Amino acid sequence: MIAATVGLVACGEGFTAYERDVIHASGDGIMRVLSIADPTDSLLLRKESLPVSEQMLRSEEYALLRERMLQTVQNPEAEGVGIAAPQVGVRRNIIAVQRFDKEGEPFEFFINPEIIELLGEKADGGEGCLSVPELYGNVSRWQHIVLRYRDEQWVDHTEHIEGFTAVIFQHEVDHLSGRLFIDYLSAEGLEEPIAE
Ligand code: NI
Repeated sequence: MIAATVGLVACGEGFTAYERDVIHASGDGIMRVLSIADPTDSLLLRKESLPVSEQMLRSEEYALLRERMLQTVQNPEAEGVGIAAPQVGVRRNIIAVQRFDKEGEPFEFFINPEIIELLGEKADGGEGCLSVPELYGNVSRWQHIVLRYRDEQWVDHTEHIEGFTAVIFQHEVDHLSGRLFIDYLSAEGLEEPIAE
């Protein structure tokens, strides 16, 4: 279970100078995605992310980070269905998830998300990760979750989510505590990519 994070940060706290540098690094397009193939990145990907404050959410840096995360997850050369801020080097509790359970399948952002209940059955499904190059495998995930989060207006929500979208949320929320999908795989569970 993910520990409660909402409210741990004083509301006057903004992004750190380091985080602002990462968010602004090399312009305004696609961000560099941290990879477990790089030893320094790998250590960062394994760290716990920190809560987002209301001041951060309302900052120019958040708007830019949001736009850049969206461009990064929609990069035609390495497309994903979800991304977590630590994957682009910002160790904060922010995820974007493609809502396959909604009309038009939009990407949406979730601030300080926590999975507060796991319901229903588990099922196996194929997974990969933008930070884990060329590895895919089957992971058993819950098919129904209850998610608590703040939206981009800082409004608190509790929402039931089912199916593939619930699986994406479990994968992305895991990133916020330094967990990767490969942690669930046995050696036999690892699959080599299909050669192109
Ligand atoms: Ni991932």
